[in-house]
Amino acid sequence: MPLIRESIVATLAADGRPHLAPLGVIVEGERRILAPFHPSTTLANLRRDAVACVNYVQDVRIFAGLITHRRSHWPLLPAERVRGFRLEAALAHEELELVDIVEDPTRPRFRFRVVHAAVHAPFDGFNRARHAVIEACILLSRRHLLPAEQIREAIAALAPLVDKTAGEAEREAWTWIRDALP
Ligand SMILES: Cc1cc2nc3c(=O)[nH]c(=O)nc-3n(C[C@H](O)[C@H](O)[C@H](O)COP(=O)(O)O)c2cc1C
Repeated sequence: MPLIRESIVATLAADGRPHLAPLGVIVEGERRILAPFHPSTTLANLRRDAVACVNYVQDVRIFAGLITHRRSHWPLLPAERVRGFRLEAALAHEELELVDIVEDPTRPRFRFRVVHAAVHAPFDGFNRARHAVIEACILLSRRHLLPAEQIREAIAALAPLVDKTAGEAEREAWTWIRDALP
């Protein structure tokens, strides 16, 4: 299995407005692959306008905020080489242009080349609460697929990691997750 980096992907809506979504970026050598599920806004945006900015962040409130519909809180800056935007909070970002699409009825794979990459701030180390928040966000993003009880149990099992190792940002993200439990 290839390496997957959990990121925040910025695409452009039909009216030119930015759309942010947490997405796994599959790393295939120099190429990046995005595999958005059908149907999703990211998929529709990529079909219409095949550019994307991938943002690598450590503020997990952005993952939790997007999954719990807090869409307007995340400042953006213009991208350098493609039409679009990147997150101001990105530690690093990559700007992508489409190479080809491998069609699939549920999850087409968009393969990109990196046309610009930049580092903006240092990575300050691993943190278990951040990983817990990301796992909880993945569970919440599958609300329509998984039984509610299974999601609640899996998120409860992650809570000790937040209790033991969270800072303020991770605690805030966790309150949004708890409020959104099915
Ligand atoms: C860490 C993380 C990774 C995700 N990766 C993917 C992915 O690779 N493909 C996908 O379709 N959805 C993924 N999701 C779920 C989407 O973020 C979610 O379905 C979101 O609503 C995207 O839909 P939108 O483009 O309509 O906003 C992921 C969610 C999280 C929290």
